[in-house]
Amino acid sequence: MQRLDKLLSEAGVASRKDLKAMIKAGRVTVDGQTARTPETKVDETTARVCVDGQPVGRQRTVLLMLHKPAGYVTSTDDPRDKTVMELIPDRYRYLKPMPVGRLDKETEGLLLFTNDGQLAHRLLSPRSRVWKRYYAEHEGQAGPEDVEAFAAGIVLRDGDRCLPARLLPQGPGKSLVEVCEGKYHQVRRMLASRGMPVTYLRRVAEGSLELGDLPIGQIREVALRELTAETTGL
Ligand code: URA
Repeated sequence: MQRLDKLLSEAGVASRKDLKAMIKAGRVTVDGQTARTPETKVDETTARVCVDGQPVGRQRTVLLMLHKPAGYVTSTDDPRDKTVMELIPDRYRYLKPMPVGRLDKETEGLLLFTNDGQLAHRLLSPRSRVWKRYYAEHEGQAGPEDVEAFAAGIVLRDGDRCLPARLLPQGPGKSLVEVCEGKYHQVRRMLASRGMPVTYLRRVAEGSLELGDLPIGQIREVALRELTAETTGL
């Protein structure tokens, strides 16, 4: 037999201090009964322990979509800057979602989080050919030669060659860019290499998942059935 708070902290659910509050708030059940104290003794080999109705141990897969604001770094920990982890509501924290890829500090838009490493890999791998769509505001105006250069594979200023990408001009100083890989500052560097430095960047879609009207700074849970072959590359 083991104390409930010890069992839950060892399962990585939350700190002992936070668990105390969660148990007091009635969020933890043991074999279907709400647990009232952290000292409750449970048989760790047979008890079915749930937090917010979700079984502990066999944690469910979670996929979250954040509308990232500018000013946050995509990192789990940073000595100076605010991190995207601060925008994850408490009710998801114990599921340990991690960012899928990254957006630059100044880039806004769609950022996914999951606790499923294989899913993250499928979404990120250039071999999966998952298209990421960006709305960019930039200097100058994109023309047909730029569209062709993107389709052929832009060679960045440091000589690195990008996979073929799509450039869809949207009028003076505005373009949509679609890429299926994630090099450092890729979209900014691609447009800069064509003489169109970016002044604003927002990711609006990843495969079939669209940012839609999710308010900035907000998170929504993505149902796994929303993932299509276009999104996972399968
Ligand atoms: N390309 C960029 O330049 N920045 C991002 O954050 C994502 C893609």
